[in-house]
Amino acid sequence: MPKRPSLIVVANRLPVRRVGAGAGARWERSPGGLVSAMEPVLEQFGGTWVGWSGSPGRGPRPFWADNVRIVPVALSRRDEEHFYNGMSNRTFWPLYHDAVRTPEFNRQWWGAYVEVNRRFARAAARAARRGDVVWVHDYHLQLVPAMLRELKPDLRIGFFMHVPFPPEELFAWLPWRTDILRGLLGADLVGFQTQAAMQNFSRLARRYTTAVGTDSELEFGGRAVRCGSFPVSIDFDAFDALARDAEVVRDAESIRQRLGARRRVVLSVDRLDYTKGIEQRLSAYAELLATREVSADRCVLVQIAVPTRDPLPDYARIRASVEHAVGRINGEHASPGRVAVHYFRRSLTRRELVAWYVAADVMLVTPLRDGMNLVAKEYVACRTDNSGVLVLSEFAGAARELRRAVLVNPRDLDGMVAAISHALKMDADEAAQNMSLLRSVVRRHDVRFWAEGFLGALTA
Ligand code: ADP
Ligand code: G6P
Repeated sequence: MPKRPSLIVVANRLPVRRVGAGAGARWERSPGGLVSAMEPVLEQFGGTWVGWSGSPGRGPRPFWADNVRIVPVALSRRDEEHFYNGMSNRTFWPLYHDAVRTPEFNRQWWGAYVEVNRRFARAAARAARRGDVVWVHDYHLQLVPAMLRELKPDLRIGFFMHVPFPPEELFAWLPWRTDILRGLLGADLVGFQTQAAMQNFSRLARRYTTAVGTDSELEFGGRAVRCGSFPVSIDFDAFDALARDAEVVRDAESIRQRLGARRRVVLSVDRLDYTKGIEQRLSAYAELLATREVSADRCVLVQIAVPTRDPLPDYARIRASVEHAVGRINGEHASPGRVAVHYFRRSLTRRELVAWYVAADVMLVTPLRDGMNLVAKEYVACRTDNSGVLVLSEFAGAARELRRAVLVNPRDLDGMVAAISHALKMDADEAAQNMSLLRSVVRRHDVRFWAEGFLGALTA
């Protein structure tokens, strides 16, 4: 009997990363939405995960983590600098996020990008047997689909972009725009978070390559390439169950007591990234306190920020600017034993994070641009009693689905102030009605729905 095709996931990051060196080296969970989404999927389907350990040098040998085979791809210090810090995080990341920072175009970085993509393609080709399904992820590996197809034409190859895909006005800046489009067109199915991103891609493919067809069905090099929108999601049941866990509920209560039992809790949780709109959010909260519409006696903002991409100058700048803003707000509004804004720059465990979601009356998720934003969905999944209000940026992919959130433009200061104030004052019945609808959306469209939708379309 023929064996069922195996699933091979190819992503820059492995689900775990190696931190520390020598005898002190250990593995910890990798940061970011891609890993949060793919972890439960691979746990369910089993398979292989090809990726980088997160530290330069010779990678460890392949190993098993539960039912997932982990295949590390080694990056040298130079690869880390040129491929990861450079091309991935200083060119593609800002370019694909509305150029909120100016992307840099550097030929050396591009050379490393091509080389490292080829290394990932070879590693995936070695891990796959005839007829297997290979699922390539995100902006680090856009050349892998075509490279892999050349090495092993008998594979089913899918690609999913977790970040936005920009319109021609921005994408056309890229000196290597045709190479990137051809790379992606090597897949049988190219998936995006939103319809808009999918349309941007298809139009660009028709404009800059020989591809012809519609937004969802292209023909390129004599092959069919399908494109689709598949909004990524979370493991709703796992978050819902954790939020009901007695110990987590006690922790949430203890958080509220320590913040001040009578105070409303406003929460934000992000990677410390310049796309997340943290500065704009803090300005809006400062303005709200300054107008005395809300007082620090009655309300507290908690900003939890995960350290990310530390060596890059734009990330050092955003950190300094956020810390300055927090200091300024507390300088004006804190009193002994009562801080107006709490700021924690650290990674939390899933249980700790859920306790914060359960403790928060209002959640502010206000990125300037975000492919999806899973934090918004996680908060919703944790509101088991339908209480709580989500304030969500129109520029997050999640806003397409979470229509019952309070939607805001993060660059509109007055609008932001009004939205936070509205969320704090919202009548309990109205809040419950909204939250109940939001919960049903995320419950229905959870991460399994996403993965099955994508893989179903890929293998159909
Ligand atoms: P991005 O992919 O840009 O990081 P997302 O909101 O889609 O943004 O995903 C972020 C993921 O990281 C979520 O699953 C969230 O739970 C997790 N996360 C965010 N902040 C923390 C933190 N301080 N500690 C641990 N995990 C965090
Ligand atoms: C986003 C990207 C992921 C990335 C994650 C964390 O979610 O879409 O591809 O892994 O951020 O960023 P990092 O640079 O630490 O991998």
